[in-house]
This record gives sequence, structure tokens and C-alpha cells, in this order.
Amino acid sequence: MTAVRVLAEDEYRAAHRLFAGALLQDAADDAGWERTRPSYPPGRVLGVDVDGELAGTAMSFAVRTAVPGGAALPTAAVTRVGVRADRTRRGLLSALMARLLADARASGEVLASLRASEARIYGRFGYGTATRGRAVAVRTGGGLRATAPAGGTVRLVTGDAVVPTLAAVHDALALRRAGGITRPRPWWAGTVGRRLDRWFLAAVHRGPAGDDGFAVAAAGDGGFVERTLRVLDLHAGDDAAAAGLWRFLLGLDLAARVEADLRPLDEPLDLLLADPRDVTVTGEADETWLRLVDVPAALAARSWGAAPAVRIAVHDRLLPGNTGVYRIDPDGVERTAPDGPADLECDAAALAAAYLGDRAPSRLAATGWWRVHSAAALPAADALFATGAVPWCGTFF
Ligand SMILES: CC(C)(COP(=O)(O)OP(=O)(O)OC[C@H]1O[C@@H](n2cnc3c(N)ncnc32)[C@H](O)[C@@H]1OP(=O)(O)O)[C@@H](O)C(=O)NCCC(=O)NCCS
Repeated sequence: MTAVRVLAEDEYRAAHRLFAGALLQDAADDAGWERTRPSYPPGRVLGVDVDGELAGTAMSFAVRTAVPGGAALPTAAVTRVGVRADRTRRGLLSALMARLLADARASGEVLASLRASEARIYGRFGYGTATRGRAVAVRTGGGLRATAPAGGTVRLVTGDAVVPTLAAVHDALALRRAGGITRPRPWWAGTVGRRLDRWFLAAVHRGPAGDDGFAVAAAGDGGFVERTLRVLDLHAGDDAAAAGLWRFLLGLDLAARVEADLRPLDEPLDLLLADPRDVTVTGEADETWLRLVDVPAALAARSWGAAPAVRIAVHDRLLPGNTGVYRIDPDGVERTAPDGPADLECDAAALAAAYLGDRAPSRLAATGWWRVHSAAALPAADALFATGAVPWCGTFF
């Protein structure tokens, strides 16, 4: 049995070095480590040793996730997962993940969330893709349609003002749609903060009620002219703020192309542009890998569409307390006899894929993720889980 332990603070740098090496990246230099250190939360950094040496690590930090209906659930944001290359495939990640989820459960966290380096790693631990995003490339020059929302004003912020200003806007917007998460202050130090000595642009949109959106962009490929601008972060409180920010980015001198990854699947860039073909969707990828740590609490916390009741049998190998039959109707959720009848059946990962509204149960059933015992229950399940909005997070960690 592999013993997982909570690392002491003087071991965090070694853990960070191990993680960077597992990702085939350079270790942080002294300045980088000073910025990174506050994002290691005491008590939440795990390690596992082999032959007396640290061989694997994983950690989580505390955030809240917005779920359909508007509740914000305590969530373990799992990150910095790495196993030394000569110690892989002997169960170290499995041991780390079992401990991490048990700790999350014990501390009352209802969800766990991560971003996966590879899509085949985390399903076995009950994580499912719960939000997705698409990559876009936009040709500049054509601008927005005359009928696009006018938006407000855009101003640049620089230096020490960047993090507090953007963080304040994000705090107000973070939970506005299902899938959104809060950002603890150390998140900013490790992302925007580490760019402060390089060129980047931080633009804040001001609407009628004050600051209501922001964009962060950096230089991408290209020469002296014909530059590509890479959008690293863009959140807008409403359609006018989004249009105002995109108009600003697409109007920057010398930028021939603006690229962004993991944008919401429903971001209507083609509808905003004078020439809808100025935008090309260049890719689509999984964003949030969600784990329902406390299935009864997670199901009780979200709102449900109007439909007849459906009974779903959920199987959870890693957290067996979640295994059971849940009767869901628009008024809420009730746990029924564990060996009683069920209309539909799924495991924790497949439940997570439907939970925020990203995938309809009928699609999950058609592709073998959910099992169907009563075909009549499928349209009801679709209506119950439907949210009418595309879930999206927009925070990478
Ligand atoms: C991904 C990683 C953490 C896995 O660690 P590990 O200790 O080898 O994982 P385990 O031995 O506990 O593997 C458990 C199971 O997952 C499978 N698995 C692990 N990593 C996998 C991968 N990258 N692709 C496919 N399957 C994988 C194992 O084969 C094993 O399957 P089994 O239960 O059927 O035998 C490790 O390979 C690593 O550090 N990779 C590079 C860094 C990285 O990608 N980190 C994740 C950042 S999100």
C-alpha cells in the first residue's frame, strides 16, 4: 500500500520541481518560486515517497463552482499532479487521488475540478468533462457589424494595478454562469503576475454600472507588422461588454489576427463580425473535468427543468457512499432504496458530464455512457438536466 502524506512547507519547492519535471518543463527560478509559493496551500499539498524519496505529488486549493440555478459549491481545485518519470504506472497517482478525494469529502467539499494534461487519465477516478471550450482565430480589419452592441469604454491598466483591478472584476463575474469558479488571489500571482516583466495588455471594459469585463492578451507569432495577438483571459458581464472588448482587441494597430483558446461554445463572434468569415473555429477541447465528491449534496444543490421524475442509479467505485438510486424531479432529489428500481444508470464520471448541462443524458446514453432501463425516462432526464445555457469556466489552473 502506497502511503500518501501531507507535505511540510519546506517540501513545496521540491514538489513543484517534481511537478514541472513531470510536465517536461523547467523548474521555477528563485523569483518564479517566490511568486508561486503562496499558491501552495498548507495542509492540501500531498506527496508520496518511493525508497525514501518524493516520487509523486498532487494538491488542491479551495474555490467555489457555480452550478445550474446559481448555487456556488465548495470545490477542490486539483492541480500540480505529477509522478516522477521513473516511478509511473505503479499506482502513485491512484493513491494520491484516493487521498485527495477523501480529504475533500471530509472537509465538506462537494465537487472536485481539474484541467487534464491528457484526456485518458482522470475518468477512472470519477471525473467527467463538464465544460468545453473552442479555439478561435479572428482576422482583423473587418470590424464588428454596425448593429453590434456599442459597449462602453475600454481602458488599459498597467503595473501594480493589473491584478487588483482584474481580480475585482472577475470576483463580480465569476459565478454568473454554471461552470464558473472563483479565483483565489494566489491564482493571479501565478498567471498574470508572472507576465508583469513581459509585454501584455490588460484591458478593462466599463459599462453603465462600472467595470464589467476585462481582457488579457499577449503577443503571439508574427513580425514587426502583421502581429498575432493571443487572448489569455476574457470575461464579460454581458453582451455589450463582450462586444466592447472584442471591438477593442480587433481594432488594435498592427494586430492582423487575434487568437483565443477555450472560449465558450456559444460565444457569438460570427454574429458580431461585419464579415462572419473573419472568425475561424480552429479547435474544441475539454475544459472542466468535474468530480461529484458528494453526489447527494451536488444533486440537491442544482435546479432542475420541468419533467416527470426519473430514478438514476449512480455507481461510485472510489467514494462508495455516493453509490445509490436518486429520484430527481423539479422539486428536488430524494435517495431511494439502494437496490430499488432505476430508469437510468451511470457512473460518477458520466454523471459529471451531464451535471452542469454540457451533455444531455440521451446523448450520453446513445454513446454508451449511461445505461437505459426505461426508454421513456430519457426525454424526462434530458428536460430535467437541461439548463438552456452552455456551461463554461474560463479559468485555467
Ligand atoms: C499522469 C500521471 C500523474 C500518472 O501517474 P501514475 O502514478 O503513473 O498513475 P497510476 O500508476 O496510478 O495509474 C493508474 C491507472 O491510470 C493509467 N494511466 C495513468 N496515466 C495515464 C496516461 N497518461 N494515459 C493513460 N492511462 C494512464 C494507468 O495505466 C493505470 O491504469 P490501470 O489502473 O488500468 O493499471 C504521470 O504519468 C505523470 O506525472 N505524467 C506527466 C505529468 C502529467 O500529465 N500530470 C497531470 C497533469 S493534469
